[in-house]
Amino acid sequence: MARHKLGRDSSRVMLRERRLQRGLLSALGLVLAACQGEAPPSGGKGGSNGTAPSASSGTSTVGGVGGGSSAGSSPVVAGGSQGGSVNGGSSSGGVASAVGGGSASGAAGASTTGGAGSSASGAGGSSGSGGAAGGQAGSAGANGGGSGGTANVPMCKGTPTTLKDAGACSDRLIGTAIAANHLNDSSYTTTAKEFNYATPENEMKWDSIEPSQGNFNFAPGDQVVNFAKSNGMKVKGHTLVWRYSVPSWVSNIGSADALRSAMVNHITQVMNHYKAGGTVVAWDVVNEAWENDGTKFWDTPFSSKLGMGFVDDAFKAARAADANAKLYYNDYRADGMNAKANAIYNMVKGMVERGVPIDGVGLQVHTGTPNAPSTPDDILQNMQRIAALGLEIVISEMDVHVCDGLTAQQQKQYYHDVVAACVKVPKCTAITFWGASDKYSWVKDFNETNCAGKNPSACLWDDNWMKKSAYDGVMDALVGK
Ligand code: G3I
Repeated sequence: MARHKLGRDSSRVMLRERRLQRGLLSALGLVLAACQGEAPPSGGKGGSNGTAPSASSGTSTVGGVGGGSSAGSSPVVAGGSQGGSVNGGSSSGGVASAVGGGSASGAAGASTTGGAGSSASGAGGSSGSGGAAGGQAGSAGANGGGSGGTANVPMCKGTPTTLKDAGACSDRLIGTAIAANHLNDSSYTTTAKEFNYATPENEMKWDSIEPSQGNFNFAPGDQVVNFAKSNGMKVKGHTLVWRYSVPSWVSNIGSADALRSAMVNHITQVMNHYKAGGTVVAWDVVNEAWENDGTKFWDTPFSSKLGMGFVDDAFKAARAADANAKLYYNDYRADGMNAKANAIYNMVKGMVERGVPIDGVGLQVHTGTPNAPSTPDDILQNMQRIAALGLEIVISEMDVHVCDGLTAQQQKQYYHDVVAACVKVPKCTAITFWGASDKYSWVKDFNETNCAGKNPSACLWDDNWMKKSAYDGVMDALVGK
């Protein structure tokens, strides 16, 4: 009974969400139209042929509390969110599983990622026949947290007053980028206390940390790690192999063997330095390897000299350096279901199948021209299929600029819906925002937006360190509202 009532309520909620989402996406439609460039997020030159994920699906957001989606909702979501354990095994130990979740049959259809399986965990979890109609989407139940056809619902102790406390309601780490050069700003350091996860914004990039071969400058990275440690934050190292912020000595290496050995040495030395102390718990091992249309890797010294196998080599070196750190592949414009996301999905699937040590995928979610917004449905679906491989997902660098005409309410809604999608996928373990305040947001310096003469207003706090409504949207999503 209760479940049916919840089902109806969730249908109404979903209808309302769909209407809101349509409004949001029609505003964001401007972006979809405008997003043709392949502008890398770090300010390179735009090109053409970027992919603009479809925003027209308009299907429901995830299955509601206690048992899946309403009729007529996305079959992928219905199947994906209702059990179905990869390898047919059972899963358990989900984070804050929904109370009152019952069994729910998955949508008919063959799952490419494991099909039916029983999943039992959390209160009221029971078997769910998985299987995602529609192909690749996997199943939430596959990943150690499936709860028998239920969504993953936060359970808070008391009323959280910070993002990190709200994240704790579903055991998610809540992060921000931290830049060493802002640590002398007391508003910056005070606001950082809202978070329990830090990503050094630039300090561990290759040009900063190994500016000349074999000479390592750990001081700026150490500053961020020490700040994090003294504030009870964990750190995700960022980033070991990328095409930007690479010193010229790396680009000038002539032979493949010499480059591979420089890369392996870089990974080994940097990870060795940070592995003691337990603060740096994860790494973006390879960042942004794929071109935006998902057809091939960017042309970099790594891809051109080592071929695509450099990714496997990098992850193997990373695992050899630190057996305990989580190892992620991280990319932008690949959060939803699009060609680039498909390419990344297929790459990490292959890595898992080959036994390459990868723990998860970072979805950056930099949103706004030139990065077309993905629908929260698509983001959920993408997370579910990655989770079905047994991998974690982290939202790694989220910001949402308003230069395409978003209202504060629409920005709040988008933040809310993306965070809510993460909360609904047990394997989505962390949500990091790319800076807390607009004051220091990289978007201001990013020349591929249409923000000229406007305030991108992309973050959760404004230039004067006042919380924006987007902050409330994130808080709501984290506590399950
Ligand atoms: O540190 C120098 C400073 O000494 C110099 O005076 C100044 C003059 O321009 O430049 C400073 O370095 C800049 C650095 O940010 C610190 O502000 C670099 O030029 C600039 O390229 C660098 O931009 C960073 C960019 O990555 C490239 O590394 C952004 O801060 C950073 O937010 C951005 O972050 C990336 C992620 O790592 C990967 N995903 C996309 C994301 C956004 O592009």
